Amino acid sequence: MIGIISALNEELMEIIDKIETKKVVKGFTFYLANIYDKDVVLGICGVGKVNSAIYTQSMIDNFSPDTIINIGVAGSTDDAVKIGDLVIGTEYFYHDFDCTEAGYTMGQIPALRDVKFIADKRLVDLSYEKAKKVLSEDKIFKGIIATGDIFVAKKEIKDRIKKNFNSLCCEMESCSIVHTCHLNNVKYLALRSISDNANEEADCDFETFVAESSKVVKSIILDIIKEI
Ligand code: ADE
Repeated sequence: MIGIISALNEELMEIIDKIETKKVVKGFTFYLANIYDKDVVLGICGVGKVNSAIYTQSMIDNFSPDTIINIGVAGSTDDAVKIGDLVIGTEYFYHDFDCTEAGYTMGQIPALRDVKFIADKRLVDLSYEKAKKVLSEDKIFKGIIATGDIFVAKKEIKDRIKKNFNSLCCEMESCSIVHTCHLNNVKYLALRSISDNANEEADCDFETFVAESSKVVKSIILDIIKEI
């Protein structure tokens, strides 16, 4: 079983509406499908770390997926990464998890040995290959995604995230989804297309580009599922 999770309707519902699914409500709503002979469970988790973590745990408890992929949009935190580009997350951090006053590094979760979560390499490479079919290579990036409970719309915050984590983009769910997967021994990956530059224009750009940018990830996810 493969799980696909997005935060917003715009990021996934178009796919759910296009394929044959069975809607299952187990506290949360899930959509079961068979895609290229693979059992898949899809759903919308809502925005932010808590919503995404509890939804992911519920998906794991109810359907036992061995792989979960989070798809959606993000704000760029790197000048080279432009609106419409794709970020394949290789490592994930919480940019707002701060126990530095207790002697930990920024983003470090005290009970965990590591500060970051690392995606499954095969899923990263497979996604890169599939992305090359729809985007030129200068629009596909592999690297760090920073997650926090902030819609980043200030250059000052974006620059701080970049400085602390050297991230390519920021958003609000992938680290909590992959953290939940890590604790449950589920393989994980997040794919994010850029909707805005996480600066003072972010809100306006997000509204303008969320639909168009999320098409980038939606256009490759079925192809990725085919080969997992
Ligand atoms: N998702 C898309 N754009 C974002 C931003 N600027 N901050 C946080 N999450 C986002």
